[in-house]
Amino acid sequence: MAKVRIGIVTVSDRASRGEYQDLGGPAIEAWLDKAITSTWEAVPRLIPDEQVQVETVLRDLCDGEGCDLVVTTGGTGPAPRDITPEATAAVCEKLLDGFGEQMRAVSLRHVPTAILSRQIAGIRGKTLIINLPGKPAAIAECLEAVFAAVPYCLDLTGAGYIETDPAVIKAFRPKSS
Ligand code: MTE
Repeated sequence: MAKVRIGIVTVSDRASRGEYQDLGGPAIEAWLDKAITSTWEAVPRLIPDEQVQVETVLRDLCDGEGCDLVVTTGGTGPAPRDITPEATAAVCEKLLDGFGEQMRAVSLRHVPTAILSRQIAGIRGKTLIINLPGKPAAIAECLEAVFAAVPYCLDLTGAGYIETDPAVIKAFRPKSS
């Protein structure tokens, strides 16, 4: 069975210029390392908030690199340069509205500004793409909110098989599947 590949995309003008360290990408990788017990490898990218560039990287991770899952961080807010959800929607064939709804609902228990995130998720080919906000603290909060459904989602799209540590996140696969 092919090794599961997970794209980890930090979308940030300042981190990509080296003005500050990228904390988001490594935080996603660390959370996934804890949660996923089956073999997988990270395919990391660090890019500015340029819609064409974000779309190009997302297409390459899905179609070229063969990623099963792509998780982005940053660029989901209302500021003029925040375009990650638009880029994600542009490359996806289907959107999964429940992901954004659930991540915002759970995040609102932590910060009232959670409603400022326009984060979405969708499918391109077999690949699930999930947007997370740029705040490093948001990464675990959002992944914990939705990841139970991710392995079964990948089963349905024909992507790779993921097993999780139930102590971190219990993957839910309906019994009939
Ligand atoms: N969600 C969680 N779980 N925790 C957070 O700290 N920050 C919010 C929101 N969602 C936050 C969150 C804030 S302050 C903003 S502006 C939006 O995400 C968008 O962030 P982004 O533009 O960095 O993606």
